Amino acid sequence: MRFSYAAAAATTLISTVLADVSITSFANSLKLSSSFDPIKAAYWTGLPHHRRTPFSVSPDGTKGYLAYLDSTYSSVVVQEVDLTTFAAVGTAYKTTGYEATGLVAQNDGFALLATVNATGTTDLPTDNEPIVSLIRVKDGAEAWRTPLNGPGVHASAGLTATPDANGDLVYSEASGLYGAYFVVTAYTGDAAGHFGDSIQYVTESTGALTQETGSSTFGCSHNTGIGIESSDAPPFATVCAEDQGDIWLNTDTQYMSGRKIANENTTNGVSGEPMGGMSGSYSNLARFGNSSNYIFGWQSRGALDLTQNTWMGDGYTQCSPRWLNHNVAIATMNSKDTLTGEEASSVVGAAEGDLQVNWITYSSTEDHQNVHTAAISSDVALITWETLTNPDCQPVPLGCTGTYAGTSFQLVDNTGAKIGSTVNSTEVFVSGDIANVGTGKVCWPYVSMMWDLSQPLDSATPVTQMSFACASTGGDSTTTASSSAAASVTAASTAAAVAASSSAAVVSSASTAAAVVASSSAAAVSSASTAAAVAASSSVAVVSSAPTVAAVSTSSVPAVVSVSASSDAGAASDIAQASSSSEVIASSTQAAVATSSSSALFHPSTFSRVARPTIAPTVAPTTGDDDECDA
Ligand SMILES: *[C@@H]1O[C@H](CO)[C@@H](O)[C@H](O)[C@H]1NC(C)=O
Ligand SMILES: *[C@@H]1O[C@H](CO)[C@@H](O)[C@H](O)[C@H]1NC(C)=O
Ligand SMILES: *[C@@H]1O[C@H](CO)[C@@H](O)[C@H](O)[C@H]1NC(C)=O
Ligand SMILES: *[C@@H]1O[C@H](CO)[C@@H](O)[C@H](O)[C@H]1NC(C)=O
Repeated sequence: MRFSYAAAAATTLISTVLADVSITSFANSLKLSSSFDPIKAAYWTGLPHHRRTPFSVSPDGTKGYLAYLDSTYSSVVVQEVDLTTFAAVGTAYKTTGYEATGLVAQNDGFALLATVNATGTTDLPTDNEPIVSLIRVKDGAEAWRTPLNGPGVHASAGLTATPDANGDLVYSEASGLYGAYFVVTAYTGDAAGHFGDSIQYVTESTGALTQETGSSTFGCSHNTGIGIESSDAPPFATVCAEDQGDIWLNTDTQYMSGRKIANENTTNGVSGEPMGGMSGSYSNLARFGNSSNYIFGWQSRGALDLTQNTWMGDGYTQCSPRWLNHNVAIATMNSKDTLTGEEASSVVGAAEGDLQVNWITYSSTEDHQNVHTAAISSDVALITWETLTNPDCQPVPLGCTGTYAGTSFQLVDNTGAKIGSTVNSTEVFVSGDIANVGTGKVCWPYVSMMWDLSQPLDSATPVTQMSFACASTGGDSTTTASSSAAASVTAASTAAAVAASSSAAVVSSASTAAAVVASSSAAAVSSASTAAAVAASSSVAVVSSAPTVAAVSTSSVPAVVSVSASSDAGAASDIAQASSSSEVIASSTQAAVATSSSSALFHPSTFSRVARPTIAPTVAPTTGDDDECDA
């Protein structure tokens, strides 16, 4: 059965594949103990956003945890996740809470950042607004719980609450500290009635809220785009998107200052949605391994015609957008507080204010949103975004409606240079944190569903299963492993091919099982000792051999087919044919292939755009030397 040109073809393929990212998925792999509403309506526009599901992997790499708000909207659930099958492990932890804001897995449990009710009888937030709390669970039991705002927390600086949990949590093993960055609204003190943000540090060993260099109670005005990533010592790397016209690397200042990453068109109370807006602010600032290099990704409308920001004063500018649609922008840093490239211009009168931007996309006809980034290794990062065709974008700097056309994945190096080509998927999107799993691979949760961005929508029919997807540098036989219990999906660009096996290797060969995929222009061959699956495209045949199980697929148009066959699949030897779909799902245990079909999980509804909320104007900064009183 072995074909003589197999080895040569495989070698060629692998060198191509190495340049492109491989996407593997585990559709509906995890049964949720509580149901989950995958949509959260955006501030102001009411457009649907993916409701974030934080996901984190322990420092020793053995435990994964998923957090989500259950569909009663009053309990946060944390579920351990098997990092090979992406199925549930053990009993979920559940606590009263209103949003899952961040999650850090530890070797003995996890730390959850969630909004909860304030406790006590005095100095409670107005209108029972929730506060942010860090909840540490060890071996299934709550070890400590530390409120990060609300009654008694930094009372002299003014008390704050957090009605919308925009923010994130990170952990630094080197310093033993958690760092949380989140949106606040003040209810006492000078800033009462205004929105800002807060950065707080908590000691892992004791749960104590500690005052560190970089602790801040009220920084950027109306920040609805937060980035925080760990550093070996505080201050951790932070990014804020404020409503005055800029995005800052504010690691050293915790304020609307520092290194100016970008000019962005804003309006009072709205910083746009550079990091996703509501339910965003995760996986947008990433550290390359333990190196001092970082990468930041965001959705930008570009910047033209810089004007003086008279409210903020000298050195502060505002701008007009280059497009009403968004493109994917990245910036790299060679330390936690230094941009590799130029800062954004602050020259009043400049015709263009975005010349420093490293654009991953540059379209005036498509909208690109839900931008995320994660470091796959110490020198390669993943950038991902969603594309809307025929976008309808309003001048107000928020989201666009349009036709959802898929999610794209692009690798870049630590200087921000693209590696390989863009890989697209219509099955997989990103709706939870992207975490490192093993070496050279990142994985994240998503909900397998029809994604409709054509109209406002504030909820969906709750789901009871979570899906996961992983990205790795293709062709690396040590990186991709799928389970024998979960189905695998692959996505590939025109030039690449990817595959997943039941136990280990990808693309080349595996000792127990293998799956192979071919694109329209390249062939792939694989062999395995016990099972194999092969897919072929129109132009080049692909062949594989396996002593016990084999599956072969051909397609008449360029397509990607993936079959995962497990060694216990017995006599399965189905043949699959892909039509025009770019992806096909294969079941690992049955070795059968099905064409992808997204089931509609929610019906079109009649939600109208929500009314614009009353937005409190920002308070002018004071002297700027004490950021706790600013904004
Ligand atoms: C939390 O506060 C909200 C708003 O006041 C209230 O409806 C809810 O019952 C409270 N939950 C708990 C567990 O006290
Ligand atoms: C990164 O640093 C942490 C803390 O110092 C250490 O525990 C970990 O092993 C390091 N990881 C790598 C890949 O060097
Ligand atoms: C944003 O751009 C619009 C359109 O050019 C402009 O009218 C508005 O003043 C800009 N916003 C700011 C804060 O400069
Ligand atoms: C992937 O999508 C991008 C747009 O985001 C498009 O430019 C590119 O051609 C697509 N690639 C493939 C292989 O379809």
